[in-house]
Amino acid sequence: MNSKAYMMEELSRLWPELEKSQIEEGLEVPKDKKMGDLAFPCFRLAKTMHKAPNLIAQDLKNKLEGEPIFEKVEVVGPYLNMTVDKTWLAGFVLSQFDEAEKEGKAYGSSDEGNGKTVVLDYSSINVAKPFHIGHLRTTVIGNSLTRIHQFLGYHTFSINYLGDWGTQFGKMVVAYRKWGDEEMVKKDGIRYLVSLYVRFHQEAEKDPSLDDEARAAFTSMEHGDKEALSLWKYFIEISLKDVQKVYRVLDVKFDSYQGESYFWDKTDELIRQLQEKGLLKDSEGAKIVDLSDYNMPPCLILKKDGSTLYATRDIASAMYRKKTFDFYKNLYITGLEQNLHFDQWFRVVDLMGYDWAKDLVHIPYGLITLKDGKLSTRSGNVIWLEDLLNEAIAKTKAIMQEKNPNLENMDKVAEEVGVGAVVFHDLFNNRIKEVTFDWDEVLNFDGETGPYVQYTYARASSVLAKAGWDKTELHESANMACLTDEYSQEVLKLIEAFPGKVKEALSKYEPYVITRYTVALATAYNRFYHENAILSAEDKVREARLKLTDVTTKVLKQGLYLIGVHAPEQM
Ligand code: ARG
Repeated sequence: MNSKAYMMEELSRLWPELEKSQIEEGLEVPKDKKMGDLAFPCFRLAKTMHKAPNLIAQDLKNKLEGEPIFEKVEVVGPYLNMTVDKTWLAGFVLSQFDEAEKEGKAYGSSDEGNGKTVVLDYSSINVAKPFHIGHLRTTVIGNSLTRIHQFLGYHTFSINYLGDWGTQFGKMVVAYRKWGDEEMVKKDGIRYLVSLYVRFHQEAEKDPSLDDEARAAFTSMEHGDKEALSLWKYFIEISLKDVQKVYRVLDVKFDSYQGESYFWDKTDELIRQLQEKGLLKDSEGAKIVDLSDYNMPPCLILKKDGSTLYATRDIASAMYRKKTFDFYKNLYITGLEQNLHFDQWFRVVDLMGYDWAKDLVHIPYGLITLKDGKLSTRSGNVIWLEDLLNEAIAKTKAIMQEKNPNLENMDKVAEEVGVGAVVFHDLFNNRIKEVTFDWDEVLNFDGETGPYVQYTYARASSVLAKAGWDKTELHESANMACLTDEYSQEVLKLIEAFPGKVKEALSKYEPYVITRYTVALATAYNRFYHENAILSAEDKVREARLKLTDVTTKVLKQGLYLIGVHAPEQM
């Protein structure tokens, strides 16, 4: 419960003559801080109570006499103005934190999602294609949304829906048969596979018969050609093994890698239903669902040769997920260039009469670009995610060697800070906004960055370590009255805001709400730290300030965790 809700309970207990709803609807936050934290206008009550508003206000005021919640209660015309007692607020916020921890629930978590399963489809890489910096966003947004859902009690199921089927695999098979070298695969993994793919395209420009060969190879895969399929499986294996390195440093895990190939031949039921419902139309030999009533181009279901498409497989897999998980929501995190694709097939599911179409959610995000140029696969300007993260780690290590050369576990910390900086930067703005990648900005230890928040966490942790702080609960001897200065109060208000921020992040599917929150809390704590003596303060004051420091570190760590960033104790 937050202090507002608590006050509401108290007021309705102290003012039995009023309905709770009357109090709730009446309470205002005055624009002018001098008027207090809360105002209750009484003129609306005058009619039913047959009394002048200022007299009603006076009556209500009398009933608040001696209540510790308010520092000052004043009648101003028809208003009752109330100022919350800062000492009370400090004790309240910190004990709310303790209560949650005592019950074994992390502060800010909840059980609102209990019994509900949310499927999250993210990262969803393409086999034998580059895992490049463009995949960073889907991966980190998806990971954060997974953690936020879990924190609020949802059961989650994360799917890396592999792009592991389609005509490009015919090309890969042909390329590998012609030029493939197992030693090179062992050495360069996915990068070597991509180079074969590039070579195929170069050679096919000179010799178009290669394309026919590739088409034939893919058809043979569809007919179960063992040799071609075993090559294809090999490509998947290599790709998955290679990307694990990136998932490990990002600390991202999936429950399933079931991708497109699983569904290519499991669309009969879908086709039957579309036919039965009169939704399937012929169009130059292909089968489509007409969406002109919805101002969209038709959704292609089957090609002329009867093979399935991206949308067909997505619909089949959504039906499968509904059957398997009975999901509460099924979330798809992709670039916004796929908006139309999702709009189209979500509409098809709706036209099929499935009410769960409303639970399919596309969560789009804007492009990521480099400060010095757009990223494009074709021009060969691919930036592999692995390289980018390694560079972040190396740059961070160089900074640390300068700032704190004696740091223990330098490599581990550099990894957590370097990677954390990249993730944090990616999740700093709302999803739709484009991200421009600029090293100076990402790794700035003083800006609104991951390293800044991590550094604040490490600093606060070292205060606790120096103090030998080992308490969990607020001690009675702590002097809450020393937490009434504006800096302490700002930290307290932010701590109190944390549970609401987590809920807001989930309801908007926007991790940035938490990212920005951690910056605000870190900034407030740093001010508090500069303005107040902690270790050298007298016992009771020291106790209270250490407690505030302790709670801040825990909330910062939790916030960082929810966006997928580690919080090293030292840096
Ligand atoms: N593999 C696709 C791509 O890289 C993303 C897949 C997203 N998920 C889905 N169910 N369509 O563009």
